[in-house]
Amino acid sequence: MDTPLINLSRDDVNMVYEPSEDSFLLIDALEADLEFFKDIKPMACLEIGSGSGVVITALAMALNKYCRPFHLAIDINGSACQVTKKTGKLNSVELDVVQMDLLSCICSNCIFDIVVFNPPYVVTSDEEISDGRLLYKSWAGGTNGRKVMDRVFHKIPNILSRTGTFYLLIIKENDPDDILRMFKDLNMRGEVIVERKIRGEHLYVLRFKKIM
Ligand SMILES: C[S@@+](CC[C@H](N)C(=O)[O-])C[C@H]1O[C@@H](n2cnc3c(N)ncnc32)[C@H](O)[C@@H]1O
Repeated sequence: MDTPLINLSRDDVNMVYEPSEDSFLLIDALEADLEFFKDIKPMACLEIGSGSGVVITALAMALNKYCRPFHLAIDINGSACQVTKKTGKLNSVELDVVQMDLLSCICSNCIFDIVVFNPPYVVTSDEEISDGRLLYKSWAGGTNGRKVMDRVFHKIPNILSRTGTFYLLIIKENDPDDILRMFKDLNMRGEVIVERKIRGEHLYVLRFKKIM
C-alpha cells in the first residue's frame, strides 16, 4: 500500500492525532490482507476514529485500484474530520466524513465489509476521557485503556456484512485475551495478526470475522 501524503498545519498538530507507529502498523496489517480484499471486492469500508485520515486514505488508495467501495470515516473531533477530508482530497480519494461519537448514528444493517479502529488505548484516569481538550480523546482510554473501545464492541457484529472483517489496534495493557473472549461471546472469531514492540509499547492488531 502506498503511504498517503499528509499535510498537517501547526494548528492541526495541536488538535489532531499525528500518524504514528500504531497508525502504520494498522496499515501494514491491512496491506497483508490486500489479496483477500481483491477477492471479496469490498463495497463499504468504515474507519472509527480517523484522526488525520491516514489509515482510511491508505485503504481507499489501495482498494480503488480493484473496486470502488464507499469509504466512511468517523471521528468525535471536528478538526480530525476536517483533516481527514483534506487528506482524502490530497490523495485524490473520495471519503465521506462524519463527526460522531463512535457508532451512535449508524443503523445496524450489516453493510460494512471492512471496519478499522485504532482507538484511544492508553491507560489513563477515567476523568481524562472527559477532558474538554479534544486531542486528549486521541489517546485517553481510561481504566485498562478500554473505556472507549469497549463501548463499541457489541455493535460490531451488527454493522459488519456476512463476510465482513473488523481490525482493531490495541496494546498489551488492554488485555488482548480478554478482548478475544468478549468477541467469542459475540459469535466472532478473532486472532492476533501482527504484534510489534515499539518504544515501550507492545502493539497488536486483532482481526475478527463472524462465525458462520
Ligand atoms: C489513536 S487515534 C487514531 C487516529 C488515526 N486513526 C490513526 O491511526 O492515526 C484515535 C482517534 O479516535 C478518535 N476518537 C476518540 N474517541 C472517539 C469517539 N468517542 N468517537 C469517535 N472517535 C473517537 C480520536 O479523536 C482520534 O482521532
